[in-house]
Amino acid sequence: MTFLLLDKLETHKQLSFEEWRKLLSELDSPTFDEAQKRAQRLAQEHFGLAIYLRGIVEFTNYCRNECHYCGLQKSHRDLVRYRLSQEEILACCEKGHALGLRTFVLQGGEDPKLSDEWLCQLIRRLTQRFPDSAITLSLGERSQASYAALFAAGARRYLLRHETASHSLYRKLHSPKQSFFARLNCLYNLKALGYQTGVGMLIGPPGQTLEHLAQDFTFIQAFQPEMLGCGPFIPHQATVFAGEKPGSVRLTLYALSLCRLLLPELLLPATTALRTQKASGYLQGILHGCNVIMPNLTPLAAQKHYQLYDGKDATKTLEQSLEELKTEVASLGYHLTCDRGDHPRFVQNNEKRL
Ligand code: 5AD
Repeated sequence: MTFLLLDKLETHKQLSFEEWRKLLSELDSPTFDEAQKRAQRLAQEHFGLAIYLRGIVEFTNYCRNECHYCGLQKSHRDLVRYRLSQEEILACCEKGHALGLRTFVLQGGEDPKLSDEWLCQLIRRLTQRFPDSAITLSLGERSQASYAALFAAGARRYLLRHETASHSLYRKLHSPKQSFFARLNCLYNLKALGYQTGVGMLIGPPGQTLEHLAQDFTFIQAFQPEMLGCGPFIPHQATVFAGEKPGSVRLTLYALSLCRLLLPELLLPATTALRTQKASGYLQGILHGCNVIMPNLTPLAAQKHYQLYDGKDATKTLEQSLEELKTEVASLGYHLTCDRGDHPRFVQNNEKRL
């Protein structure tokens, strides 16, 4: 029965909520393995053996929000807060560029001090300095006008995980000041403005059921994102979820396979959270359909304060990480690529006209 659903998913790219629920709740070993095989084959059909690199700069850990799972939440008073200067951010990208990276992800908490003016200036400086590279933003919820200004300045991709597509679960994971509908609205605004847009959900935060995950898949199917970030929930000691169980690695890998089956051209990272929960996380992710890895360009002194969850490694230099990644992916017969890696729908047609 579940194999039939995998067939249907692969052929029609569309399942009903009930079918998603079944696919998730009737997970057995043969289904898990079959989804893995098909996901890996599909990723290879669309992207070959290339793994795209996105250099991430975690440039501010100030945040106005109270996401109960996240270590950057405003009420985490002991956390040392930092904000990198434009010069520091440019230097991070310079280093990444010299090592071959052609996508820079600027990520931060929802820092109230980030003005459109400052961000636009930063984006313009980056696009001038690195005209061959793509700028991705991951700065949380902002107004439509702000997203439009950032796009005009040269940003073309935006990551904003929806975190959960269940309104009731969203309420349990966030403060009353945060709005589920405002978040979805941001995603639709980003898409309408022409950004390559990334969504994503946590696997296994407290209170999540397989029905909630089925809602995530129904949402992803309707939204048709270009990118998707999905990793296990990992508790952070300074949050109310400190003593909770982390999300399952197996369920995360299965979810990644299903994402690939639903959206074969998706840019799908093997996340740092997955790597934190399992040493072979990147490799397992690739075997389950992932095609992106995001090395960290943030200076180590700052990285250690960007604590979304416990156990996030902040000890390796960029050179070390890239060397390790290269050897790791080569062990599976894959290679790292310096290509910008736009979503196929967004690749410009560079063929010369006759
Ligand atoms: N465990 C796993 N992922 C987390 N994130 C935030 N806190 C945690 C946690 N405790 C994820 C969120 C956010 C992304 C930047 O990090 O999904 O969108």
